Amino acid sequence: MNEQIDLNSLYESFLSDLQRSVEDRSHGFHIIQFGTWSHKGPQIRSVVLRRVELNPLRIYFHTHLESPKISEIRENEMTAIHAYCGQCRKQLRFQGRSRILTSGPIYQEQMDHLSPSASRCYLTAFPPSSALPSYHSNIIDQFQDRAPTMDDKLSVYPQFAVIEFIPSDVDALFLRAQGHMRLQGIYQETGLQLTWVAP
Ligand SMILES: Cc1cc2nc3c(=O)[nH]c(=O)nc-3n(C[C@H](O)[C@H](O)[C@H](O)COP(=O)(O)O)c2cc1C
Repeated sequence: MNEQIDLNSLYESFLSDLQRSVEDRSHGFHIIQFGTWSHKGPQIRSVVLRRVELNPLRIYFHTHLESPKISEIRENEMTAIHAYCGQCRKQLRFQGRSRILTSGPIYQEQMDHLSPSASRCYLTAFPPSSALPSYHSNIIDQFQDRAPTMDDKLSVYPQFAVIEFIPSDVDALFLRAQGHMRLQGIYQETGLQLTWVAP
């Protein structure tokens, strides 16, 4: 006999895991995969989940403004997110639009959260992904041997970007020995339409 399971409660459990994983570095959703279109075809890479807003759902991560994913988003805002948590046996797949934030309240809050040592990723010697004549860590000389200070951090503004992901579609899969569960959802003006899907 089939169990009676509430579709909305199941999806809420995925979102609550997603939200928890922002602060919990050991959570499987803390590192997500972000997909874009490029002139070479699809591109995918890992990024750290930095913020999740519910109602409406928005997903955020940080990146370098000169990285190729930025020009790919500028070319085509249609993007995707994948996340899998081995411990909770949940997979989330989203399609949606990405916006590049370089100002505004959310951008400023994320900048305020950025630790001076993490700001080193943005104080780069070369544009990210540019070819190098020989090995270089891409950390500017000044910060090879010392962490940036709060004052140094202020100079990352021109390189620091926050990506805001606005989902249009979701596919959520929960692996269970007694029977997997899968749902799909469409984010519409009127709200989220969820439906069961064969796992
Ligand atoms: C565990 C892990 C976390 C990462 N987190 C980020 C991140 O939060 N933001 C980011 O831009 N790149 C992050 N990266 C590096 C990207 O995966 C990627 O190599 C880099 O951003 C260049 O991507 P692009 O050339 O497609 O723009 C991370 C890589 C790993 C392995």
